[in-house]
Amino acid sequence: MRGALFALIIAGVPAMAQEVTREEGLAAWERIYAVASHPRCTNCHVGAQEEPMWEGLSYGAGAVHRMGVKSGESRIGAESMPCRTCHVTAVGRETAPHAPAQIDDAWRLPPVELDWLGEDSAAVCAQLRDPERNDGHDIAGLVDHLTSSPFVAWGFAPGGGRSAPPGTPAEMARDVETWGAAGMPCG
Ligand code: HEC
Ligand code: HEC
Repeated sequence: MRGALFALIIAGVPAMAQEVTREEGLAAWERIYAVASHPRCTNCHVGAQEEPMWEGLSYGAGAVHRMGVKSGESRIGAESMPCRTCHVTAVGRETAPHAPAQIDDAWRLPPVELDWLGEDSAAVCAQLRDPERNDGHDIAGLVDHLTSSPFVAWGFAPGGGRSAPPGTPAEMARDVETWGAAGMPCG
């Protein structure tokens, strides 16, 4: 009986610790970067400049948010014109072309250290594997964010004729798991 149980446990091990090769990890990273570097994500992930971007929306490369919008240190525009003035927090989505996006959370910029606008694949990879610069997350935390964040959900389905990054939040989360299981390779 004991022997059988022991054999069962041993047999279970290879299935649990699935081998993920470095190549598979790198391929998963390239798909992650293709999403993270898309304007639907980088327009918010801008850092200390305080101005959100309006790239990938027909205003050209390098276009910043019009109407003098600045996030301030609050990241929600509390110091000047709050984001919620136009980006109303509501379950119903404002999906008309060129309308301000609406989600079921306070529309805001991320903390400054989550800036990766314009950074290449190697730089974003090094950043997202470092809890000091990724909002304190391990792989499980990143997976949780990707599958639960209303910002990420909006980015994949922005509506209004806006372009969206390839895949779905669930596919991106699976790629992060694969990348993590391969030891978070960066190339
Ligand atoms: C005066 C109204 C107004 C305010 C205030 C405002 N926005 Fe916007 N925002 C808009 C409009 C309108 C658009 C849509 C532009 C388009 O798609 O042509 C937009 C689009 C955006 C986008 C681009 C989203 C995309 O499609 O990639 C980001 C990012 C953004 N806003 C962030 C912010 C943040 C952060 C704040 C607060 C600091 C803010 N906005 C405050 C009106 C506003
Ligand atoms: C409207 C602005 C906005 C957009 C658009 C946006 N994010 Fe974020 N992102 C945030 C904020 C704010 C945070 C900080 C965590 C929080 O408050 O949810 C964040 C945090 C993150 C983090 C770090 C994990 C964490 O929990 O802090 C990752 C990874 C991330 N975003 C990925 C993405 C990806 C991928 C997209 C595009 C599909 C995207 N974001 C689009 C605002 C945005």
